[in-house]
Amino acid sequence: MNRFRHLRSTAALLLGVSTFAITAMASEPTVVPEQPPFPAQGKITYVPRDSILEFKALPEYHEPEWVTEKFVKTGKLPPVAERLPKEPMVFKSGNMPDGIGVYGDTLRHVIGGRPEGWNYSAGQTQGWGGIDIAMSECLTRTAPLFQVEAKDVEPLPNLARSWEWSEDGHKLTMHLIEGAKWSDGVPFTSEDVMFYWDDNVVDPNVSPLNGATPETFGEGTVLKAIDANTVEWTFKEAFPRQYLYSMAYGTFCPGPAHILKTKHPKYNKDMTYDQYKNGFPPEYLNIPVMGAWAPVEYRSDDIIVLRRNPYYWKVDEAGNQLPYLNELQYKLSTWADRDVQAIAGSGDFSNLEQPENFVESLKRAAEDSAPARLAFGARLIGYNLYMNFSGNGWGEPDARGQAVRELNRNEDFRKAITMAVDRKKLGDSLVKGPFTAIYPGGLSSGTSFYDRNSTVYYPFDLDGAKALLEKAGLKDTDGNGFVNYPAETLGGKDVEIVLLVTSDYNTDKNLAEGVVGQMEQLGIRVVLNSLDGKQRDAANYGGRWDWMVLRNGAELSSVVQNTPQLAATGPRTSWNHRVPEGGELDLMPFEQELVDIVNKFIASSDNDERTELMKQYQKVATTNVNSVGLTEYPGALIINKRFSNIPVGAPIFMFNWAEDTIIRERVFVANDKQGDYELFPEQLPGKPGEKGPMN
Ligand code: GLA
Repeated sequence: MNRFRHLRSTAALLLGVSTFAITAMASEPTVVPEQPPFPAQGKITYVPRDSILEFKALPEYHEPEWVTEKFVKTGKLPPVAERLPKEPMVFKSGNMPDGIGVYGDTLRHVIGGRPEGWNYSAGQTQGWGGIDIAMSECLTRTAPLFQVEAKDVEPLPNLARSWEWSEDGHKLTMHLIEGAKWSDGVPFTSEDVMFYWDDNVVDPNVSPLNGATPETFGEGTVLKAIDANTVEWTFKEAFPRQYLYSMAYGTFCPGPAHILKTKHPKYNKDMTYDQYKNGFPPEYLNIPVMGAWAPVEYRSDDIIVLRRNPYYWKVDEAGNQLPYLNELQYKLSTWADRDVQAIAGSGDFSNLEQPENFVESLKRAAEDSAPARLAFGARLIGYNLYMNFSGNGWGEPDARGQAVRELNRNEDFRKAITMAVDRKKLGDSLVKGPFTAIYPGGLSSGTSFYDRNSTVYYPFDLDGAKALLEKAGLKDTDGNGFVNYPAETLGGKDVEIVLLVTSDYNTDKNLAEGVVGQMEQLGIRVVLNSLDGKQRDAANYGGRWDWMVLRNGAELSSVVQNTPQLAATGPRTSWNHRVPEGGELDLMPFEQELVDIVNKFIASSDNDERTELMKQYQKVATTNVNSVGLTEYPGALIINKRFSNIPVGAPIFMFNWAEDTIIRERVFVANDKQGDYELFPEQLPGKPGEKGPMN
């Protein structure tokens, strides 16, 4: 490439072209540089999909002795065999890294989020960090698929224990786990599934957390109950197997209809939608769950405690009802503190995802006396700068905002911005060493669908970027160092762009500040709109933003999870382009191409075709700067050494976060390592809404 650059500049000189234009030519797109090798990754042992779990009756079942003594013998609970389904889910011992476990102990989490309430179905966050994952179960499950060969990958059964497709592929019949119960003993049935669908996903007044919309399951898709344990999907396309991923976390995890219906306006005329959403605040304890633990204690800015669900419907091969761990704790602190506490041993778990903490954490974890193990995975954590692509009113921009949208929709402008990002510098500002890599945007380099040769990169070139800005009509006419609009736009004012970012993570803040500085070099004034995670999400979904720094979602780290989010495939699927009230999507031609590619991918079951389609996706996305990639790096799982059954090589993020990937219901602490951490020993979730656990 150097040789060509030289030839080109010589030719340009001969033709008398200005140096400015020469540099602009030098920044022609190329393929992204090779990433620095990162040898520290744990090696994954790949297994067949069907080696993980099955559904069957076992000759006998067991539970912790104190449950039998304190609750069954006193008549507070039916015997364990009666609490379990006829055929519970059985985790196969061969897939459990340390085999069958023992009961006891606590997993102490630390999180930076705060719970809004328990109504996940109506869009309330529980504070993240895997607390919602611990409480909810979904029709299918995908997190454990990191250990399944790409060609064998299909979501695992979960609440849907099996399914079949009709001959023409338009109908999918799902058999729900039969005889399973919520943590308060009420049967789980198709009514729960239909309530989630009809009255939350489809009801336009409700938006479940993680953004499930009808289009998440394909436009025109219909779901109906056949009987108490069977539901039937009807799809417009034939065999859209991809939607089995939408039925996993976080878009199809039904809540307890028998509780939620009491405050839903359709069933309770005295309630408004707002009252429905906020009807189950954090103080409302013992909300029924299908997950392995239910919340029994909440203290604001302090802690949430969850205790084992006595009706949990999963067992090991010896018939021990899961989970092994009696308690989960969620200390309400900061995300950075999660790393610190996990490393120090006062917390048990962290996804080490903020590179600012890498060096210190690695140093401490390397000491023999370190309480925690630290294991890196592939480079699956990434960040993008998104531009708001709606030109027709999403978020009702004012004149300034609208002018920015026009710029965002200008190809030269986007190229100028991506060329002005010095990714090496951004990465090094987070952490020095072989961690961060140049990431132009698009699919994560850690997915099986990644193809380096389809990844177009505009190298850092400030002069070239400036030339492109000028081509886009932006010049510093008042000499203050920032470019102005042409006179006919906003009276020739300085271009000013507001960058949305969450203040919850140092990494997000540091990257955003880095962008502000680098844009200043280019002559673009960027100001930060730094909000907590909840407010950031609200501003994002509401379209009230120009640019946004965002950590990558599973659509980029796995491709098969959240696939519809790879492009504006529906009115409310994409991060950066949605429809305004009553309007339509005004897709640019390359966005339409992306939508078509993603839809073909969703409709196809042919692995070769899907691989090819994702190459096309990557090429179109990176050539047109669908997003401005900022950096990409590996994350590490930090877990206290006393825990067993942690799979080797578990990525902290791929199909889902590590809290799901490690299959917490199978995690245990060996007898000689058990700590004295339980805050509510020998207690179980109480009645829904009542204070405190059951004694
Ligand atoms: C937050 C954290 C992640 C992970 C998820 C789980 O986003 O930053 O590491 O714990 O919550 O929902």
